Amino acid sequence: MANENENLSVWTSISFWRRSAAWVTGFAVILLIWLTFDTMGQISMGTDADLQKAVAEGKEINRVPAPTVINYHIDYKMSKTRGHEVPVIGAKEPFFGKEWSPKEAAALLHLGKLTVQAKNCMNCHTLLGNGAYYAPDLTKAWLDPAWQKGGPMQAMTNTGTTEEAMAKFLQNPSQYPTHARMMPNLGITAQEAKGVVAFLKHMSSIDTNGFPRNFSKTVEQFKTGGTNAH
Ligand code: HEC
Repeated sequence: MANENENLSVWTSISFWRRSAAWVTGFAVILLIWLTFDTMGQISMGTDADLQKAVAEGKEINRVPAPTVINYHIDYKMSKTRGHEVPVIGAKEPFFGKEWSPKEAAALLHLGKLTVQAKNCMNCHTLLGNGAYYAPDLTKAWLDPAWQKGGPMQAMTNTGTTEEAMAKFLQNPSQYPTHARMMPNLGITAQEAKGVVAFLKHMSSIDTNGFPRNFSKTVEQFKTGGTNAH
């Protein structure tokens, strides 16, 4: 007498589905572990030696450069091969009038990060994709032409560099209104402001695959007669 189950299709077999579920879960676990390590490699911060070598040899720089990147000029250039803009680390330039050692730069960046967290900038702004859009995205704020030489912010704050203009604005934002909305005074000290500006400059050097997408469009508007890039 033939077994009754023999004629049943494989699709109705419970053991088939059990085995499939086990294989799919196993494969997904391995894939996720591999992707985790791959991502860790991409997002871990480079060292000062990496940075110096990459700049000297014109090679690709770590996605997240060392804190000493604040000692360099940062440009944002269209990459034809990648189809979006990428940060380009240029020649050395003083930051608040000096060159920062790896230790000093790391400490300043750390102060900036703590200040950004303590004052909850993300409540209004977006940083690296996290936060709100009540106020301009800060991911590439350092590269905003409004803050560069010839832009309105240095003139408005009566300063000669991007870092000084930003630091002055951050200590007293309601004194320098440029948007329809005004940034409130958050009680940021002069030292904290330096840290925050270092944090913003470092963030602008991170290769974010062209995020935020609309950056160059808003910059074009600025160049063709807008009053501010946002
Ligand atoms: C309550 C909302 C709010 C918070 C919190 C806030 N901001 Fe702002 N911020 C604004 C608004 C609104 C503007 C636009 C105002 C202007 O330009 O006059 C702005 C503008 C800026 C700009 C100029 C952006 C550009 O590209 O022109 C910077 C830089 C900035 N904020 C940094 C910060 C930092 C750093 C923090 C945290 C320490 C912070 N903001 C916290 C509302 C906020």
